Amino acid sequence: MSPEKLHIIPHNHAISRADRIQQQGHPSLVIWFIGLSGSGKSTLASELERRLFEMGKRTYILDGDNVRSGLNKDLDFSDASRKENIRRIGEVANLMLDAGVITLTAFISPFAEERELVKNLVGAENYMEVFVNCPIEECEKRDVKGLYAKARRGEISNFTGISSPFEEPQNPDVKVPTHKLSVEEGVDLVMGVLSKKFF
Ligand code: ADX
Repeated sequence: MSPEKLHIIPHNHAISRADRIQQQGHPSLVIWFIGLSGSGKSTLASELERRLFEMGKRTYILDGDNVRSGLNKDLDFSDASRKENIRRIGEVANLMLDAGVITLTAFISPFAEERELVKNLVGAENYMEVFVNCPIEECEKRDVKGLYAKARRGEISNFTGISSPFEEPQNPDVKVPTHKLSVEEGVDLVMGVLSKKFF
């Protein structure tokens, strides 16, 4: 139901995003990593966060498996749940944006429509899309969590890239082919685009 129908009227608090940004001396933004399971989203996000943190910036990571253990533990891997997963993360990222934080998200985010919704919600000017474009063959070879093997054996249904779709981002701000680059090189690539766009 819409907030209006429920008589919900947001309060304008004394301290704004602009105040927070001015105090801390850097903008807040959302860096959205997209890619298959095992593509390297969390590794890249983690290393990028370390660099930003060392530069004195306020950061936070929202990560698939972590958020799915708490806030989104009622969701499974059906298309509808994945859409709801991304919608909620988008809303959380939007709150973090208002809180003045540079938020990095690491979710497969398989559907273009939900990615577009998030981008519109937080505002294109606050959003950077990173496509971790490691081919499925390489993700499956790595199989860090052993999930591809289980999916192939039919022990996991709706597995992204095998029995559930992954719509590749058509126009990301940056692509990181983690099968060809070291973690350092991948983070350098993202940092380059990030610095040009936001700092
Ligand atoms: S998303 O599709 O809704 O964006 P999300 O990033 O939150 O996915 O969760 C993906 C993680 O859940 C994977 O890295 C993997 O560890 C685990 N997982 C468990 N089951 C599946 C599945 N059926 N498909 C993809 N990932 C799965």
